[in-house]
Amino acid sequence: MNKKSQEFPLTKIQWLWQNMKGMRAIYIFGMFLTIVYNVMQLTVPYFSSKLIDTFLAGENAAENLRTKSDLFYKLLIAMVGLTVLRAIIVYIDCMIFENTSQHVLYKIRNFLYDKIQRQDMTFYSTYRTGDLMTRVTGDLDAVRHMVAWVVRIVIESFSLFAAAAFFFLYINWKMALCLLAISPFVFVIIYMFRNQVAPMHALLREKLAQMNTFAQENISGNRVVKAFAREDYEMEKFDTSNCDYRDTNKNTARVWLKFYPYVETIADLMPVVMLLIGGLFLMTPYFTMGEYVAFSGLIWAIANPMRMMGNIMNEFQRFSAASKKVMEIYYSEPKIKDKENAIPHPDRFKGSIEFKNVSFQYEDGDLPVLYDIDFKVNPGETVAIMGETGCGKTSLIHLIPRFYEPTAGEVLIDGIDVNDYKLEDLRKNIGLATQDVLLYSDTIEGNIAYGDSQIKPEEVVKFARYSAANDFIAKMPEGYDTIVGERGVGLSGGQKQRISLARALAVKPSILILDDTTSAVDLETEKQIQNSLNNLDFPCTKVIIAQRISTTKNADKIIVLNHGRITEMGSHSELIAKKGYYYELVKLQTGIEEL
Ligand code: GTP
Ligand code: MG
Repeated sequence: MNKKSQEFPLTKIQWLWQNMKGMRAIYIFGMFLTIVYNVMQLTVPYFSSKLIDTFLAGENAAENLRTKSDLFYKLLIAMVGLTVLRAIIVYIDCMIFENTSQHVLYKIRNFLYDKIQRQDMTFYSTYRTGDLMTRVTGDLDAVRHMVAWVVRIVIESFSLFAAAAFFFLYINWKMALCLLAISPFVFVIIYMFRNQVAPMHALLREKLAQMNTFAQENISGNRVVKAFAREDYEMEKFDTSNCDYRDTNKNTARVWLKFYPYVETIADLMPVVMLLIGGLFLMTPYFTMGEYVAFSGLIWAIANPMRMMGNIMNEFQRFSAASKKVMEIYYSEPKIKDKENAIPHPDRFKGSIEFKNVSFQYEDGDLPVLYDIDFKVNPGETVAIMGETGCGKTSLIHLIPRFYEPTAGEVLIDGIDVNDYKLEDLRKNIGLATQDVLLYSDTIEGNIAYGDSQIKPEEVVKFARYSAANDFIAKMPEGYDTIVGERGVGLSGGQKQRISLARALAVKPSILILDDTTSAVDLETEKQIQNSLNNLDFPCTKVIIAQRISTTKNADKIIVLNHGRITEMGSHSELIAKKGYYYELVKLQTGIEEL
């Protein structure tokens, strides 16, 4: 997935429209109401001009007031009635826009979450958590704001402007043209403003994501900060980022300030032109006092939309920068997904694993991390993988659940290439305890039952026993109902590992993969775990990464990796006889000089 040059199939507005499905009719109705209540605004000056000309300032004003007093009252009631009606329409209209925007927000947010959930490992190493969080919160809110406010204000401004313009032209086209002749200048200024403010919004959005990432990483990593007493340093770092964000915000606002005086001057010119030219026209018979009042009562309907243009453009650019970020996730496709012709395999796997000349290189890596890996494990067997840190053990086991795909060769389970399985079928047969244990903020029971929500409480206890976790869990004040914090705060490293092992076992996997899962438990407990693993009440192939000989020596097959290549493979006794890396390791760990 190329993060930088992603092309979207739809434009931003088309995309927004697509996500309004189900709400489009009501939204269009909302737009219509916006036009209606804005046009209605013009009726008051129209009625006042009629009132003034007929009953107050006209030639027969006094006469009219006496003879047509019911028309006078009708006009007054119509003015009040229309004002009340207008207020009701505005209320309904705001509700429609707000409702639609919340609907769109909900829909896109759910869609994004779904997308993020289904992404592959490469996605998670590309995007930082803070950045992703910014996209589903701040950026998405800018999208919501577009639907709820910007569109309404655009329609409001244009309908007001257009209606006032038509109204002016209708009343007195000469005066109207004199006023409207000024307006094109505003568009030129707004166009120039747009060009300058667009990059600012993109920058602003980056700064916000940066600040959120700082905060998120710092809060997650608070233990490291405390351990190194780096609070001041972290605060300073955040302060810099916060300052940066504030300054970018200020600079963005300043861009508008550069253009604001020109727009404001043009808008302010309107009443001046009105006064000057209107005054001159008043001396001629072509312009009545009533018309003058109607014009000056509505001059704002021409001037205000001009003033709003800057604001609208600003919001438009904010939407543009934010929606680009949202759409990037919206249209991202994981590389690792079900093949179109993937055949379902609902039955439990037997559990044979075969690596056939597998090589692997990370997309962003310079060199392959695995070369020509070739081995086979039969159902029910245990294979141990050893080797110094960074030699590729974790990378190797990540190819089994297809977290990554080999660059060459194939990984087969029960004789079928893992790429040909449906991901769900493949992964539900695999129990994985990762090297870096992550527990959820949930009860211990909830954590163990994570992979199988149907599991019975007795079974949770059984699997906790298998992983030698029952004893310490039972001793906790709330036992299995104890809530563990984010990332398992409140538990020791070994305790977390054991819960993670119980979680992997609780799905009764055909293939159990343990990545250094017992490294933090004492030897006695480890022995107990080994014992349980050898006597599981379901058939299971085990792939165990470990550094300790005590963990690996009983495996059917031990694989030693060195810089991504298999250098030794065989049983404990075979490898001892080879007198290679494994032999040296045994000597080192047991302290025996000669074996
Ligand atoms: P230990 O867990 O420390 O015992 O090491 P390991 O044998 O499990 O090594 P691992 O498979 O994690 O890493 C093998 C090599 O791949 C190392 O050189 C890493 O730097 C590299 N590596 C691991 N993960 C990634 C990744 O996500 N991207 C890239 N580009 N390289 C990675
Ligand atoms: Mg590892």
